[in-house]
Amino acid sequence: MGPPHCVSGAGALLAVQGLSVSFGGIRALDGVGLHIHASELLALIGPNGSGKTTLFNCISGVYRANQGEIRLDGRLLTGLRPDEITAFGIARTFQNIRLVHTLTVIENILLGRHRRLEGSWPLAFLGFLGREVEHRRKAEEIIEFLGLEAVRKARAGEIPFGVQRKVELARALALEPRLLLLDEPAAGLTTEEKQELVYYLREIRGRLGPALLLVEHDLALAAAACDRMMALNSGRVLAEGTAKEVQNHPEVRRAYVG
Ligand SMILES: Nc1ncnc2c1ncn2[C@@H]1O[C@H](COP(=O)(O)OP(=O)(O)O)[C@@H](O)[C@H]1O
Ligand SMILES: [Mg+2]
Repeated sequence: MGPPHCVSGAGALLAVQGLSVSFGGIRALDGVGLHIHASELLALIGPNGSGKTTLFNCISGVYRANQGEIRLDGRLLTGLRPDEITAFGIARTFQNIRLVHTLTVIENILLGRHRRLEGSWPLAFLGFLGREVEHRRKAEEIIEFLGLEAVRKARAGEIPFGVQRKVELARALALEPRLLLLDEPAAGLTTEEKQELVYYLREIRGRLGPALLLVEHDLALAAAACDRMMALNSGRVLAEGTAKEVQNHPEVRRAYVG
């Protein structure tokens, strides 16, 4: 495990190498490499269509890469199913919130929890009740952590958008991930909610400990939250380094202006 600002990929929690994906004639990812150390936050920026969500879909097993490798703690994930990857400790949120609107907040969080324990055979023997108690305890912890007590029993479809984003985050946290992938979690939030999100990103790392890969359009927010930044354009890595280095990189500036 390297120090937070370590640029070398040695001992990384997540290591991606030479990842390429094509859709018909479109090369959505073209030889992408990246690494994230334990407890580190890497911000991923890039214009629309640069391949950020595709990268998330590859890491979480939704898309299969044509080429390249994805490893978590040295273990090869490429080719595994999404539920297998989840079981290895990778959770994600979606650019478009995916809550079950007719279920309550706590039920949505419990859905995340159940997904985690599926196929986990030692726990499968503990019996329904024991698992349920454990799930509820964890869900309540996360509700308290994110300050969602007031909406715990509200239906997800009936709470404000900014709170739905928080529940989406809560559901991913319920997996107790080692790596959390956040796809534009600040999209549609007010300035105040964005500040709160930066606070929670810090708290998540400090108190719960997962590494984070954050896709974010708001560059100020990404810069405030991250240890390192990486910029993608047309499926390729344009720049990687500190937030300042990446934002001042001539090719990154050109990609954003163009
Ligand atoms: N399932 C898919 N089928 C066809 N093309 C796709 C699919 N997913 C992504 N793409 C294409 O891949 C490119 C990268 O998209 P995406 O990863 O969503 O970009 P970003 O998240 O950076 O905005 C785009 O050209 C997009 O149209
Ligand atoms: Mg996207």
